[in-house]
Amino acid sequence: MRRLLVTGGAGFIGANFVHYWLDRHPGDRLVVVDALTYAGNLRSLDSVAERDEFRFVHGDIRDQELIESLLADEGLDTIVHFAAESHVDRSISGPDAFFDINVLGTHSLLKAARTVWLADGAPVAHRFHHVSTDEVYGDLSPDDPAFTETTPYAPNSPYAASKAAADHAVRAYWKTYGLQMTISNCSNNYGPFHYPEKLIPLAIVNLLHGKQIPIYGDGSNVRDWLYVADHCRGIERILERGRVGRTYNIGGECEKTNLELIHELCRLTDEIFEEDTTLKLRFVEAWPSRGDSCRDAVTFVTNRLGHDRRYAIDIARARSELEFAPKVDFEEGLRRTIRWYLDNMEWWKSVMDGSYRNWIDEQYGSR
Ligand code: NAD
Ligand code: TYD
Repeated sequence: MRRLLVTGGAGFIGANFVHYWLDRHPGDRLVVVDALTYAGNLRSLDSVAERDEFRFVHGDIRDQELIESLLADEGLDTIVHFAAESHVDRSISGPDAFFDINVLGTHSLLKAARTVWLADGAPVAHRFHHVSTDEVYGDLSPDDPAFTETTPYAPNSPYAASKAAADHAVRAYWKTYGLQMTISNCSNNYGPFHYPEKLIPLAIVNLLHGKQIPIYGDGSNVRDWLYVADHCRGIERILERGRVGRTYNIGGECEKTNLELIHELCRLTDEIFEEDTTLKLRFVEAWPSRGDSCRDAVTFVTNRLGHDRRYAIDIARARSELEFAPKVDFEEGLRRTIRWYLDNMEWWKSVMDGSYRNWIDEQYGSR
């Protein structure tokens, strides 16, 4: 039985992890701490909010006192650390928050963990799992081999640099103080509860609104895509079987150019609208409802500054040590994701029209 602190549990991957974990480990205690920034959504946790083993705490990972009291009072033995600023484009226009939260916030969390778990003479069994990204490794040319855990760090965006710095801090707390840590460096995730600023949810929501899909540059940049539940399973395997002090690459073995990805998303959306004729009545502005092909939505826009060309992840270590392999194939994952956005219009509409933010500000006060 574990007692977990999940930071950033109201964000995209964090919320998926909370559902995943409580489904599979019903007796475990799970406390979420989340500052509910623009990317956090309490609605994503609605279906677990009343469960006895679950608790939500509105709080900031930089509040060391709060984290220490949660670890101590709740007797927590595991931290799964998702909380971060996560959007590359925002890190280009405003890098400060990325270093503040991703680096200093992670350090604050490490200090709290050290104080409570490694107190002089009374260390307790614990695990600190840090969720990181493949972007710390920089980018690849078309023929380069995929990133392994020993690929030198070469982050290119302020986001990637802040995550790289956090990874080093976590490792240093292991080497210096003996903090029992693991790190996962994962590729691009997609699935439910994804804030509609990242490519896949943005494209789906734009298709449903009859808007265009902006593709940066010529759409030839390559990403490796992983359905979010597979990432959650990878983290579970690391907690259960991973070696302390070790990093694991988690990926989907699914490299696509952005244009290939969007063409597939458009094809599946057209297909789903064909299969379910009620959708044309519910989404009257959507491209298929107006008799147009979703592919017509694609438009090419100015490239992102310093846009990494290609990411690819070698998951050999996770395969051999954790018996991890992605289960959900790309078409199935995309279908599930599109269907989720079709079935959960309230979730994304309330984010986009500001009503969700107003509701949160009423609950917790405006930030
Ligand atoms: P997200 O932006 O959707 O969610 C981040 C969450 O952290 C939000 O709920 C936000 O409110 C919370 N948060 C931000 N600052 C906080 C603070 N100071 N204190 C407490 N909570 C705070 O991000 P995501 O896409 O779910 O990513 C989660 C983690 O996984 C991040 O660390 C990210 O770097 C990493 N990651 C993401 C991907 C991906 O494809 N999305 C891939 C690999 C790794
Ligand atoms: P994104 O979802 O922002 O993830 P990341 O930058 O962490 O990989 O972007 C995925 C890819 O899609 C990336 O190559 C940038 C590109 N992209 C677009 O072409 N248009 C968009 O509007 C966005 C948000 C991203």
